[in-house]
Amino acid sequence: MAEDEPDSGAPGTQGGPYEGPRATDFTPEADHSDDPGYITRTRFLSTVAIAGGGILTAAILVPVVGFAVANPLKGEEWRWIDIGPASDFLKNAPPYANATPSTKIGEVASLAVAGTDPEADRRVYLMFGLVEPSAKPIPGPDESTDGFDARFKAWAASITAADMDMLAIWNRCAHLGCPVAYAAGSQGFICPCHGGAYDSRGLVTGGPPPRPLDRLDVKIVDQSQQYSAADIASGNDRLSLQQAIAKSSSPKVRVLVGKAYSISDEQEPFPLHAPGEPVTGTLSNLYPFT
Ligand code: FES
Repeated sequence: MAEDEPDSGAPGTQGGPYEGPRATDFTPEADHSDDPGYITRTRFLSTVAIAGGGILTAAILVPVVGFAVANPLKGEEWRWIDIGPASDFLKNAPPYANATPSTKIGEVASLAVAGTDPEADRRVYLMFGLVEPSAKPIPGPDESTDGFDARFKAWAASITAADMDMLAIWNRCAHLGCPVAYAAGSQGFICPCHGGAYDSRGLVTGGPPPRPLDRLDVKIVDQSQQYSAADIASGNDRLSLQQAIAKSSSPKVRVLVGKAYSISDEQEPFPLHAPGEPVTGTLSNLYPFT
């Protein structure tokens, strides 16, 4: 066949009607978008993406929520510890009829609470603290020694047990945990690490600590008395400082320290917090990210 002759065997090349496949002859693929049981590629990829995102979110959130929630919910183990007869600790309690300005008013006993390592130096200071420490007189600028002595003596003689309360103050600094020490000169606690300063009740007076010193619950009990578990739970077994002073000659009157707790600047109790952790305010909710 010559090259310029048309191929009579090829359809549609001879000018006749087209007999090949037509677009309308194809059966369209089934659309499964409305079929919840059919997994399309898009649906498969979406499911994988959502599942992966969920796993990553859980991997981040679970430890954070666990840190924030699990610790407060975890039961604390503690028990009352008998630290000795009340008479051992009441040496600096009222009356102060013969006081001079050098008399230690309501200060101070300390006892080790943990560890044999001197570096740890975990101690509790047992303070018979003035409810209003600021009421304690200080010498006036032009006041004579005799004049101040007389004023101090009159003030000290007026103090009763009702003007004092008993505090067990933990010497763990509320900044980063260094052991603070009581400084009789300044009548407060000083931290050697970063200069944190606290008054005789453990309230912050200077430096970086974000909250006051932690405390331990403390009570004086008369172990010659019988108390029910309900009485003990409600605090009915506790002697007031005045009652304890009146009974202090009895070796059955004992001082017990119990559970540790943190306090706010207003001395409201909170569960025990770690050093550096504020107990109130917005920042307390962001710890440890602040
Ligand atoms: S650890 Fe006490 S001030 Fe820093």
